Amino acid sequence: MRQPQLPMPKVIGHRGAASHAPENTLAGFRAAKALGVSWVEFDVHLTVDGRCVVIHDDLIDRTTDGQGEVGQMTLEELSSYDAGAWFDPSFAGETVPTLEEVMDLLGELGLGANVELKPSPGAEDETATATMALLRTSWPTHLPPPLVSSFDYRSLEMAQQAAPEIARGLLLETVTDEWRSLVEAIDATTLHCGHTALTPARAKEIRAAGYPLFCYTVNHAGRAQELFGWGVSGVFSDVPDQILPLV
Ligand code: G3P
Ligand code: CA
Repeated sequence: MRQPQLPMPKVIGHRGAASHAPENTLAGFRAAKALGVSWVEFDVHLTVDGRCVVIHDDLIDRTTDGQGEVGQMTLEELSSYDAGAWFDPSFAGETVPTLEEVMDLLGELGLGANVELKPSPGAEDETATATMALLRTSWPTHLPPPLVSSFDYRSLEMAQQAAPEIARGLLLETVTDEWRSLVEAIDATTLHCGHTALTPARAKEIRAAGYPLFCYTVNHAGRAQELFGWGVSGVFSDVPDQILPLV
C-alpha cells in the first residue's frame, strides 16, 4: 500500500466543526477539539496584500458581517469584520483568522489538519506558494505533518513545486476514469471526493490501487458506516461527534 503510515483519522472535522461553531474560525477549531476530533479541515484564501487567511468563499458576505471579495481586501480590512455573529450571537467577536493564527492554535490544541487551497480566480499560483511557504516554516513540529488538498489542479502543481515534501490530496467532486493519471501526475498521496456520486466499485478500485480515499461532507452516521464498508478511509463531517462513535 502507498503511504500506509498516513496519520489522517477516519473522522475529520469539516471547516472545524461547521454545524457546531462558525466555520473556519478559531472558535470552530476549539469546538472540534472539544468534540473529540484529532484532525480538522479548513480552507485558505489570499488577501490582496498577500496574507493567507482561513475562509471558504471568494466573498466574505456569507460568513461575516461585511461584503466583498477576499482577494481584493487587505488583511486589515478583512479583520475588521465579524465572522462569528452570523452563526450565533454567542460567537460575536470572531474574525477571519490568518493561517499563522490557525497553526498556532492547532499546535496548542494538538490537532492535525488538511489544508485546502481555495484560490480566488487568478490567484492560484500565489495562494499555493504563499501557503506552502508558511507551512514549511511555521507548521508546529510536534503535530503530524499537514496534508494539502485542492480542487484546483494548478494550485496542486504549484504546491508540489514549492514544497514537494508536503503531502498532497487531489479533490474531485466526482471521480472519473482520469483519477489515476491526475493523482500520479502530481504525486498525490490521497484522493478526496464528494460522497454522493461515489460508487462501491470506484471506491474499491481506488483502495485497491493503494490510495487512501476521503469523502466530504458526510453528516449522517449511517452513511459514514456504509462508506467505511466500501473501504473509504475517512470522512469530513460538520457533525464529527455523530460519526466518531463508529470508529
Ligand atoms: O475538503 C473537503 C471539502 O471541504 C471540499 O468541499 O466546498 O467544503 O471546501 P468544500
Ligand atoms: Ca474545504
